[in-house]
Amino acid sequence: MDKINPIEKFVIFGAIGASAIHLALIAFAAFQLNITVADCVDDLESFQTPALIKHDDKRYEVHYVARMWAFEPRVLKVPVGSTVDIFLTSVDVNHGFHIAGTNVNVTAIPNIVGNATVTFAHPGTYHLVCHEYCGVGHQDMGGFIEVSDEIDEAEGDNLFLQDPANLIANRAARQLDSPAADPAYQLLVSKGCTACHTVDGTQLVGPSFKGIYGSQREFQDGTQLVVDTAYLKESISYPDKKVVSGYSIPMPALPINDDELTQIVKYLEKL
Ligand code: CUA
Repeated sequence: MDKINPIEKFVIFGAIGASAIHLALIAFAAFQLNITVADCVDDLESFQTPALIKHDDKRYEVHYVARMWAFEPRVLKVPVGSTVDIFLTSVDVNHGFHIAGTNVNVTAIPNIVGNATVTFAHPGTYHLVCHEYCGVGHQDMGGFIEVSDEIDEAEGDNLFLQDPANLIANRAARQLDSPAADPAYQLLVSKGCTACHTVDGTQLVGPSFKGIYGSQREFQDGTQLVVDTAYLKESISYPDKKVVSGYSIPMPALPINDDELTQIVKYLEKL
């Protein structure tokens, strides 16, 4: 033991040296650059509902919720020059979240809130992309942020816009303002419907529910009908009986009881 092989000595001191540099870099990042380990979020639930908060004309905060296979809010409109604080979580599996044309790249992880800040100096449409494989709908999972000075909230832009005072002082009121707060919508989410169908008119793997009631449908066998209550009930209970033409991925039959079926159909009728 009294004679240590010089190579061994080099390895031992090399390892100690590398560890010391590593610890010094962590200390430097924490104390000089203020980059610290993430804190615990004490109110995870408030990030599991999609929301857009306008702090002032050029400062927004958005709570993105990722689920198979959509980001909500899917569409966001902010004025040119806005800075947007992004908070992101997932309610099912891991998803990637990249805003094309920016350096925002966050992973959406269940029970974790990711965060990034971005300033949109130029007008345009910025696409959201899921870049983590998350199932059969992965390639269609996206959305966009429209940066323009023509925003008309009265015309239905920014559906998820919340008043910050509401958000902080009255979460119940905030949730009532949001389409996501409707118990029937929550039922759709819990049954997995929103993985393939939206309520805002966007096309996913399946047809959107928006305006479905009273609309004309054409099926793969060439038949047509106008959507009524009986059709809605049938297509939820027996999805493969009539498949709307142009849609190829079969919908699984869902375990659903009569009460839930009635509640969902009532909700779809008024969309
Ligand atoms: Cu979500 Cu891929």
